[in-house]
Amino acid sequence: PRVGIVVVAAGSGERLGAGAPKAFVGIDDHSILNHALRGVFRGPVAQVVVVAPAERAGDALTEALAVADRTDAAAPLPSGRRRDLVHVVAGAATRQGSVAAGLGALWAGIEVVLVHDAARALTPPEVFERVVAAVDETGAGVVPVLPVVDTLKRVAGSDVVEAVDRAPLAAAQTPQGFPRDVLDAAYRAAAAEFTDDTALVAAAGGRITTVPGHASAFKITTPADLERARSLVQDAGA
Ligand code: CTP
Ligand code: MG
Repeated sequence: PRVGIVVVAAGSGERLGAGAPKAFVGIDDHSILNHALRGVFRGPVAQVVVVAPAERAGDALTEALAVADRTDAAAPLPSGRRRDLVHVVAGAATRQGSVAAGLGALWAGIEVVLVHDAARALTPPEVFERVVAAVDETGAGVVPVLPVVDTLKRVAGSDVVEAVDRAPLAAAQTPQGFPRDVLDAAYRAAAAEFTDDTALVAAAGGRITTVPGHASAFKITTPADLERARSLVQDAGA
């Protein structure tokens, strides 16, 4: 299928507190957005839409073109230059609004859409491949998940009400993938804010299935997460 990827990078990064929009904070010499786009461009992709803060749209385009050229230098596309696949649009006040803005920029021929958090900067290419394959095979919405490892409690204030069985629970990651028509219709129908795109599609009646996620696809949310990303990148380079 012809795959379009919407990479949402328009958040402010309140919890990281780095003094700049999160996607533009450095992991090493390169930003979170730069690292996120490496995995994106290595996959089988026909269009990449980066959703950035309006005042950083120019920076986002520069980053995306640099990663596209680097990936081309390593493995050229038979069909042309990766930089011709890049689009940048301005984000919105909520993640859902930013995804909607990205969907509006997709080319008519795109058949499968992946929505990915730039903040999951170290997501390996195999996760993108698994999600696309599962959308293609099932026609459902697809979410990469990991088992929950912590012991869970239901609490009320500081009191434990009960233990929660973690066996039927999973932690959701991105990229999440959908047939394009299913995602577009669900976004048109959305009447509330949802925590992720598979929740939005499920609320519209869509079927959702899972594929295995990856430990490296964790979301950089707090300063401790950024430290973890920095040491992983450093170890990979060493
Ligand atoms: N995002 C976005 N537009 C928004 C909010 C979030 O594009 N209005 C993107 C972020 O850039 C990020 C992803 O959605 O890649 C997941 O959001 P999150 O990790 O919560 O990032 P922020 O909202 O930037 O962080 P915080 O909630 O700590 O402010
Ligand atoms: Mg947020």
